[in-house]
Amino acid sequence: MACVWAFLSGKGGTGKSTVALCAAAGLAREGQRVALVDADAGVRNLDLMLGVENRIVFDMLDVIEGEATLEQALCPIRETPGLWLLCASQVRDPAEMSGGALCALLGLLRERFDHVLVDCPTGIGAIAQAVMACADEAVIVTTPDDIALRDADRTAGLISQRGGARARAVVNRVRAEYVRRGLQYAPDAVAATLDAKLLCAVPEDEEIRRAALQRRLPAEGEGARALAAIAPAMLGRPAQEVQRRGLFSRFSPS
Ligand SMILES: Nc1ncnc2c1ncn2[C@@H]1O[C@H](COP(=O)(O)OP(=O)(O)OP(=O)(O)O)[C@@H](O)[C@H]1O
Ligand SMILES: [Mg+2]
Repeated sequence: MACVWAFLSGKGGTGKSTVALCAAAGLAREGQRVALVDADAGVRNLDLMLGVENRIVFDMLDVIEGEATLEQALCPIRETPGLWLLCASQVRDPAEMSGGALCALLGLLRERFDHVLVDCPTGIGAIAQAVMACADEAVIVTTPDDIALRDADRTAGLISQRGGARARAVVNRVRAEYVRRGLQYAPDAVAATLDAKLLCAVPEDEEIRRAALQRRLPAEGEGARALAAIAPAMLGRPAQEVQRRGLFSRFSPS
């Protein structure tokens, strides 16, 4: 049975889309069939990040309204065999997509794929809550500071209140130096606060931002290695040996 993963945050800009995209590509490279769903209606960006914006003809709402089939709306990512993208509408009002219809759509994807990864809108609005309700795993992506963590904790509270999805944490933009100086929390402490299992800690790394600007996946360095370790962790495998050797090895889940 396929697994539906909701990528959530409290605060915006914590790295949800980056993490969801790299996790999806990593799972596909592991031989899994993966649907990556951009549920951020009106401000979607995974199509741009994947460089397929000109190939998106139909979106989720078209499928829900019967204007297109799921197959027509799913965009295969040629560079990453095994990965398909399904986008929310860029022009319609997010309120037009009902939670029930979204869950039904995720149910259809669940039948066709091994993993369904949903990049949710920031915060705990209607769409994020609908996805949370039908997900098996809820990955909270946060940075290790008070401001992001307070918002992430509200999301974590809602996940546990709802029951259902298991909470996981990805702690992003970690600077070892800041952790040492007490300016950022250690990833383990963040995960404990959220009462979530730590999937991965990702360092602040210029290569991640550069890769986004150049519309490619991060290729080298500590950040790329940490992001590449997320998919194996999602599959229940220990983080790759290569990450263990890195500067952030002590932050990776055992
Ligand atoms: N570990 C990192 N190191 C450096 N830059 C990063 C890191 N993670 C993400 N970024 C950069 O931060 C910016 C925001 O990331 P991203 O778009 O993934 O966040 P988001 O949570 O999806 O944002 P939104 O709330 O707008 O949907 C991007 O420019 C991305 O390249
Ligand atoms: Mg995003």
